[in-house]
Amino acid sequence: MARKSALINVMEAAARKASRKLLRDFNEVENLQVSRKGPADFVSAADITAEKTLREELSHARPDYGFRLEEGSDIPAKDGSHYWIIDPLDGTTNFLHGIPHFAISIAVMEGKHLIAGLILDPVKDELFWATKGDGAFVNGHRLRVSARKAMSDCVLATGIPFLGKPGHEEFMREANEIMAVSAGIRRFGAASLDLAYVAAGRFDGYWERGLSDWDMAAGIIILRESGGLVSQINGGEKMMEKGDILATNSGINQHMLDLLRKARKKV
Ligand code: IPD
Ligand code: CA
Ligand code: CA
Repeated sequence: MARKSALINVMEAAARKASRKLLRDFNEVENLQVSRKGPADFVSAADITAEKTLREELSHARPDYGFRLEEGSDIPAKDGSHYWIIDPLDGTTNFLHGIPHFAISIAVMEGKHLIAGLILDPVKDELFWATKGDGAFVNGHRLRVSARKAMSDCVLATGIPFLGKPGHEEFMREANEIMAVSAGIRRFGAASLDLAYVAAGRFDGYWERGLSDWDMAAGIIILRESGGLVSQINGGEKMMEKGDILATNSGINQHMLDLLRKARKKV
């Protein structure tokens, strides 16, 4: 059974408090006041309330840590090294459509290194979490990536670019290569949960472009601690800076890199 560190306990308490409010708002989704931040990128009252709750709870517990927030401006770390990376509601489009698949994602950086991550799916009551070097867990059970090696057995998750996002043609070429050789592609609509599901062996891999660091930070450490491999789509290391990501089990990593490279050559 997993023993949670003090840091994970702090993150869980904050996430559970924010999730109670999110669930209330989800049940009243039609009454939410919704404003548009950009094409197909909605900010709901729920995002802002959840982020405020997380900021208050986490700064109370760790007053010296800084913040990197999706909705608010960055807050520098008083201790010069630790900061939270937060997506208060990942899967906003699902949320606003009443689709019960969204999450709260919280990661902790120490300098340039991810040291902890937690993703809470309030509807399914699944808590994914990891601390560097101590493994990854879901509701207390150890997480492990799948052992599948044949692409023909594999289910891959992705994100499809939408109105206002670049890379539509690029995505179509990539999907073409992967759909031809795999058991299927899924687009569930919450990047953090896509990564958590690869960590849990539900998906065998996941790729997406055009993300932000808050979409992927917690998922990256959870995936690494589950034995998964994570890189940029071209194999580079700058996922958080560049916003593109490939996450897989160890058996299909090279296949996926090769297929995605083949798609790029067809430009
Ligand atoms: C979005 C989700 C989605 C991904 C988008 C993200 P948001 O985050 O993670 O799966 O395809 O690129 O922006 O806006 O719901 O927090
Ligand atoms: Ca997000
Ligand atoms: Ca969000």
